[in-house]
Amino acid sequence: MSSTATDIRLADRLSGVGFSEIVLIRNKILAMKRSGHEVFQFEGGEPFAPTPQAIKDACTQALLENKTRYAPSSGIPELLQALAEKLYKKNNLVVDPSQIIVVAGGMHGLFAAFQAVLNQDEEVLLFSPYWTPTKDLISMTGGKTVLINSLRARSEGITATLKAQLTKRTKLLCLASPQNPTGLVWTREEMVEIANFVKEQNLLVISDEAYEDLVYDGQHVSIASLPDMYRRTLSTFTFSKSYSMTGWRLGYAVAPEPFITGMKQSVLYSTNGVSTPTQWAGLAAIKICEGFISDNLGEYRRRRDMLVEGLCELGFECEPPAGAFYAFPKISKELEKYGKTSRDFANFLLEKATIATVPGNVFGPDGEGHLRFSYSVPIETIEAGLEALKKVL
Ligand SMILES: Cc1ncc(COP(=O)(O)O)c(C=O)c1O
Repeated sequence: MSSTATDIRLADRLSGVGFSEIVLIRNKILAMKRSGHEVFQFEGGEPFAPTPQAIKDACTQALLENKTRYAPSSGIPELLQALAEKLYKKNNLVVDPSQIIVVAGGMHGLFAAFQAVLNQDEEVLLFSPYWTPTKDLISMTGGKTVLINSLRARSEGITATLKAQLTKRTKLLCLASPQNPTGLVWTREEMVEIANFVKEQNLLVISDEAYEDLVYDGQHVSIASLPDMYRRTLSTFTFSKSYSMTGWRLGYAVAPEPFITGMKQSVLYSTNGVSTPTQWAGLAAIKICEGFISDNLGEYRRRRDMLVEGLCELGFECEPPAGAFYAFPKISKELEKYGKTSRDFANFLLEKATIATVPGNVFGPDGEGHLRFSYSVPIETIEAGLEALKKVL
């Protein structure tokens, strides 16, 4: 039998799935650095501090003890038990370890969650601007993203804004609090309003809690902890930001049945679990590194205040973000002078001042007219970057 052109094409499922523009920005930065330029790097999404030594030691110890065999695909029992205790203490969630799964970072938790619940053409209400991969993870299931502008919802009424986008295909609502890139943290009252809407409309929730430990103003609320919400919520967490463990690829997710079994299937047939020594390192993080989070919070706040004040002095419109580690200033005035889009302005800053940022449109149409600056960088980078910005504007 001869093959035809249609036999050798990519799966249709992947046609709407993008590749992160941040990778293109990184490539440009690498090229600039290779040719000898100093680049003030505000484009990243990594904690500024290294992984604590106790976590690295626990991994080494696991290797020395030959803890290198297959672990249960959902996670080692010791870690699952410690996570259940953490979820009770910090997130006000009472869960059995059987409803927790260890995954390869927040990305993998979200992947497994969307795979477990979404069917072709079902719609997801996604607060926006959003962390770019979220939309691609939805596209990979054949589901559709419906954007909800977070700030508009906040000022014009959350319930009314959500209701206006509801259709008979709406299956779930996805939120990240704190949000990347805006740093928005939904208050308890707002969370209750979102939860009431979800219950009234009988929807599911995927709650991305990657930045739960990085809240400066207000308080982190896990939506699953609100009355009658656990049974309809899949919550995802990661060690990446809290414990400076981005490269370890370690996270976890919590969900009731039947969703947790769906997630376990998705994990079994994708990674078949997380590397065993990494899980022992995660156990050390949860058990002995609590102080690392609180110690770092002050350092993040200091960086946030320095960058935001500096940007405001230079004429940017920038509110101090309540959480995460990004400033997301409005650049309407700058666009009148330096280009039409946030991408033009980001290119201008990179080429003329070697300042690397992420254009707001990367985070969806509601992000246009903004730039994202990470303040999880050395203090010296903030000082020197602001100086360079002053010279070029
Ligand atoms: C909002 C949000 N969710 C989830 C993640 C996933 O993080 P990771 O896969 O590194 O654990 C990130 C990473 O930047 C993020 O910004």
